[in-house]
Amino acid sequence: MKGNHLFAADWRAWAARFACLLVLSLNALCAHAQVTPEGPGWLRPDERRSGLSFKSEDLQAQQNDDAINPSFLWVDQGQRMWSESPQGHAPSCQSCHQEAQTSMKGVALNYPKWDTRNKQLINLEGQINACRVNQQGAKPLAYESDELLALTSWVALASRGMRSERRIDPNIAEPFQRGQRFYEKRIGQNNLSCAHCHTQHFSDRLGGEVISQGQPQAYPAYRLEWQKMGSLQRRLRACLSGVKAEILPFGSQALMELELYLHFRGQGLPLESPGVRR
Ligand code: HEC
Ligand code: HEC
Repeated sequence: MKGNHLFAADWRAWAARFACLLVLSLNALCAHAQVTPEGPGWLRPDERRSGLSFKSEDLQAQQNDDAINPSFLWVDQGQRMWSESPQGHAPSCQSCHQEAQTSMKGVALNYPKWDTRNKQLINLEGQINACRVNQQGAKPLAYESDELLALTSWVALASRGMRSERRIDPNIAEPFQRGQRFYEKRIGQNNLSCAHCHTQHFSDRLGGEVISQGQPQAYPAYRLEWQKMGSLQRRLRACLSGVKAEILPFGSQALMELELYLHFRGQGLPLESPGVRR
């Protein structure tokens, strides 16, 4: 009898394990199939507004006129770098990609994307560095270096005014959902989520500034406070520091996932980079 019981229990345990495996794999399949972007952080397409619309007329004028937009110091540097060969002998970006404003049209709208080689998200900065290393045999450019900001804003300029029409494909479903969860969870000593400020309280004042929807399209952007150009991740780190949360390292997967979520949350708005912000 005892032996029989044991056997029965064993059998049930195995059956349970098998059922579990089945459910887990079905779950994995379903997780891919159904992403529900709507949550406390989400905005309906008709609610989405550019960050620039929350800014003063003076700042809007600076962004809209290339002749006085300070970002163009970096954009022009990027244009020069495009046709130069690093180390004097490596092929220039231009030797492979020809004219950036034609060959790079629409490219910035597809980042961050899934890098099948390294099985992780890659953003535009990362792709440019991948070409530096793999195609030019040069050293990668440091995050937030003038050089990387210059090349990134030069490539992004080719997509200015364009709108992303991407779908949340299966290969980015999970990183998207992690970005979404990060966006909606309370963080830092202030115990606030990104959604608290940028979805529930946009248009309200905080200190000297009007809170915008926290849209990513202006970046890389020139910020008066920085006295220079900065990447989207630098802006995100400023918000993390603002709520006294852990400041994630540049290029970390958590920041990439946040970038990815922001991309879809703001989809439909035209790319603005190179932006100007306070
Ligand atoms: C020797 C040729 C070569 C050089 C030099 C080169 N690239 Fe590339 N680049 C490629 C190839 C091939 C791809 C596509 C495969 C890949 O992603 O690596 C690519 C892809 C890209 C993409 C992504 C395009 C897309 O559709 O997503 C960008 C952006 C880019 N390169 C920027 C640059 C920049 C900026 C430089 C100069 C710093 C540069 N590349 C130098 C060959 C080159
Ligand atoms: C306490 C409120 C607050 C929280 C929480 C907060 N931010 Fe911000 N954020 C701001 C303010 C203020 C600005 C500068 C004014 C503006 O453009 O909204 C800003 C700017 C931004 C911008 C730049 C928008 C633009 O057009 O230049 C982005 C993107 C952004 N935040 C994303 C985030 C993300 C992602 C989180 C969560 C990690 C977050 N913020 C958390 C207050 C907040």
